[in-house]
Amino acid sequence: MITILSEADAAITLLSDPLTRRVLSSNSNLRMIANCAVGYNNIDIDAARKLGITVTNTPGVLTEATADLTMALILATTRRLVEGDNEVRHTGRCIWEPLHLLGTSLQGKRLGIIGMGRIGTAVARRAHTFGVEVVGVRSGESLDELLKTSDFISIHVPLTAETRHLIDQAALAKMKRGAYLFNTARGPIVDEDALCDALESGHLAGAGLDVYENEPDVNPRLLKMSNVVLAPHIGSATFETRSAMARIAATDVLRFLRGEKPLHVVT
Ligand code: GLV
Repeated sequence: MITILSEADAAITLLSDPLTRRVLSSNSNLRMIANCAVGYNNIDIDAARKLGITVTNTPGVLTEATADLTMALILATTRRLVEGDNEVRHTGRCIWEPLHLLGTSLQGKRLGIIGMGRIGTAVARRAHTFGVEVVGVRSGESLDELLKTSDFISIHVPLTAETRHLIDQAALAKMKRGAYLFNTARGPIVDEDALCDALESGHLAGAGLDVYENEPDVNPRLLKMSNVVLAPHIGSATFETRSAMARIAATDVLRFLRGEKPLHVVT
């Protein structure tokens, strides 16, 4: 990162680029970072502020795509879609049997949404049309009731010092036996080892994940489980959304270099 940024006045960065204090302070000409993501936990914002580096993100345009992917994970996990796809591919056959690959219905169940911001609210809207009762909490509010009463829990808070391992062993233990966990936010919000314990013991029925605690690595324990659906961080990965994100980042860099105020400043 230090080499790449050594001659830059501004940079468009990805969520996988670690912009630490050391990186940010390595080039005194660096004045602006446009992170091509809504999350910006890869950037030491405190350091950027102190160094007078403007940081922007790409909010709004990925809300619906990420909510769609969340529903895709919820449906794929509860209806065992990946298991079914694997079976058809491996056997080359489709046999209808009364008790084969039974999943869990959404109708009449309760979905707890942790983080009722833009994406959480968009998930709530979708879940509602599937006949799901939705309860939500904002970051920092008491989670207990939501954890104890939800059949499905979906995470939509940003990763901060306060939300790191928000879903730890104690939180997982409060979840209903047979509940499902979904994470399309950031991996480190969940203690992945504790999640594996809860899945292996049968306390949780399944999980749908788009993000991991130590990306790009995925916990090998998860890879062995057939009751989890694992997506490769593709919440915003549609042609429409990624184009819009790139346009926002580029436009804000151009505004900044022209001396205008960027539109999506987070510092
Ligand atoms: C994706 O994870 C994003 O933060 O945009």
